[in-house]
Amino acid sequence: MDLKCRAVELREKMSLEEKVAQMLQISYSRVSHKEALIFAKMGAGSFLHVMGDDARAIQEEALKSRLKIPVIFGIDAIHGHALNSSSTVFPSPLAMAASFDRNLVKSVARATAREVSEDALHWTFSPLLCIGRDLRWGRISETFGEDPFLIGEMAKVMIEGYQNDGDLKEDNGILACAKHFIAYGESTGGRDSYDSPVPERQLRSLFLPPFQKAIDAGVGSIMAGYQSVDLLPCSANPYLLKDILQKEMGFEGFVVTDWENVRSLIGKQFVAKDIYEASYKAIKSGNHMIMNTPEFYNATLDLVKSGLVEESLIDEAVDRILKIKFDLGLFDNSNKVQTLKNKNNKTKGYIGSKAHEKLNEEITKRAMVLLKNDGILPLFKDEKAPKRIALIGPNADDVMNMLGDWTYFTHPEPKPSNTPKTKVVTLKEGLESLREKYDFDLYYEKVCSTSDLEAAGLKKAIRYAQTCDLVILALGDGLEEYGEEKDRASLELSLGQKAILEAMVEVGTPIVTVLVSSKPLDVYDLAKFSSAMIYGFNWGSLGGEICAKILAGEINPSAKLPISFPRHTGQLPIYYNYLPGWHGGKYVDFHQSQLFEFGHGLSYSKVIYGNLSYSLNFKAQFDEDDPIERLKRSIKTLPNEEYLKGKAIKLSFTLENISDIDCEEVILVYVKDEISSVITPVKELKAFERVSLRAKEKKEVNIEILLEQLCIIDGNYNKVFENGDFTFIINDMQLKLSL
Ligand code: GLC
Repeated sequence: MDLKCRAVELREKMSLEEKVAQMLQISYSRVSHKEALIFAKMGAGSFLHVMGDDARAIQEEALKSRLKIPVIFGIDAIHGHALNSSSTVFPSPLAMAASFDRNLVKSVARATAREVSEDALHWTFSPLLCIGRDLRWGRISETFGEDPFLIGEMAKVMIEGYQNDGDLKEDNGILACAKHFIAYGESTGGRDSYDSPVPERQLRSLFLPPFQKAIDAGVGSIMAGYQSVDLLPCSANPYLLKDILQKEMGFEGFVVTDWENVRSLIGKQFVAKDIYEASYKAIKSGNHMIMNTPEFYNATLDLVKSGLVEESLIDEAVDRILKIKFDLGLFDNSNKVQTLKNKNNKTKGYIGSKAHEKLNEEITKRAMVLLKNDGILPLFKDEKAPKRIALIGPNADDVMNMLGDWTYFTHPEPKPSNTPKTKVVTLKEGLESLREKYDFDLYYEKVCSTSDLEAAGLKKAIRYAQTCDLVILALGDGLEEYGEEKDRASLELSLGQKAILEAMVEVGTPIVTVLVSSKPLDVYDLAKFSSAMIYGFNWGSLGGEICAKILAGEINPSAKLPISFPRHTGQLPIYYNYLPGWHGGKYVDFHQSQLFEFGHGLSYSKVIYGNLSYSLNFKAQFDEDDPIERLKRSIKTLPNEEYLKGKAIKLSFTLENISDIDCEEVILVYVKDEISSVITPVKELKAFERVSLRAKEKKEVNIEILLEQLCIIDGNYNKVFENGDFTFIINDMQLKLSL
């Protein structure tokens, strides 16, 4: 019998009480262990924020319930299973996006799935598909940046990695969760969980496509966002969750609310009088699992018994949840249902393994962006190599700030006293490990924290700078300045960090800056006075080692920015794929260009692009020069679906590495729709590839763009391809085609 039938057959045996309990997701951080066991025995469907033996104890209790339905355990494993201090902490999602490396990011998801599974859990609340366009928002580090195409590609490979290419029931297959549906990062002013004023055409053009990719990749769960879209809370919006997500986009998994969304309808968004109205709206809107609002249980029993809520809606939610539990093998693979009794004492050794550490090295190498270099880097290339280096600043030796958000220091509750049980290397330690090899002395001074208003240790730092031949500044932000409910009105460096910069500029020793920060900050002056600048994001456990090796020249940087750096906070929101039409194109007090734009990234090698040509596997329909004929054609809507099928543009070009060191080149292909019936961005990313080139190697590259990728959402909200001229942009090459 197929799994869906088995799910329905099981649900038909359940009482109303058991069915409503199955919709509950209990947070282990909000109940005592004893209360958790009681919820498990009553048949609560899921728990979050619990790991290892605590989870095994809860599962053991759940299996004593009448129908012995296993619990599904969820956790925020978004850059490794990082809430466990024995686990591998990979670079942040934003940093991983900078690699533009689908295979490596997929491998990170696979490794994460193995560590989560070994910890007796089944589900990660990842990938996050929010578009990071307003840097004032506190959760930018969790995004894959500002571009919907890149976000969709990263989400696709992470889902495939977590869900084991569809073989979910295998020991290490875990459920992925595409979140937050939808447009959470677009809230006005970057204010966390505030309203996102996104009109439907923009929703369909920018925000839905990454989720469609996630659904097409088979994602089994989707999380409804905290906030409202155009004044309707996501968890109280049936048009969004049922009509668009479940019907139009074909999502067949289950929708889990974000943290206490149902309770928030009452006390934060004031769209429900009480838990009865909130539960009624949540069920009617198409939410299936209710995170951290256990009072939903009694209210819903009353709502069904009163006839206000059809039991069929409860049945649908439970069918979707049980179907996923069958898919996960919770009823067929005993290794997926770990209890204290059957705990596999021969742990597979995945958590924090050497293999995962090696993988961490590989992704970290490709996740740091060389933003500026006047030739001072790599440091140890000739006799001018520095002999005395001053390492100055708050993020040179701060483990918490380098690991970033959603780790054992921050969740389920902040615990700064926690200590890593796996290898962690700060920049200070990374440089110290190279001292002998490159024969230099290192003088370190923290001076202040990232948010201090004054620089207490400045005198000592100045003395070091005066007696050294290089200053490495390690600046950025700290955990008190980002994360949920931690938005910033200004991205400027703190006064303490500004004082450090001012003093170092005054001394005059050459400056190389390493920025360890959750997101781009206002580094206009810092960049101006730095001879070189590396952006390390929250670079994970091994970032300090890798960054030191990049500075030394042992690693050739290859990452590109997945997000833009503004020149000033006042420019926000700022992004590369902006719309034309701004009268004047700039503020009177600032020009509008980015300091560093999406796609920017330097290396120690030089690659020449050339010989761009193309071929079509179809006859272009748009070649009339006669304006009347052209207008006639553009008014005539093509039979789009069948017209588009299989049609593609193949772009061919050469890459030549003219340097004497090997490199990896990230190729970015943008397209500009020259004339369209609705306004479209000045350019949009449509393809990317990472290509290896040995020293002096030249190779031909072919990249295909599907015609379907050039569709837009027209004035009637239809996804259509419109004939016309399109310009393809690859590095410094352009090609205009009439299609
Ligand atoms: C949090 C976040 C969400 C996370 C969930 C569970 O509040 O908004 O991204 O997955 O709650 O921790």
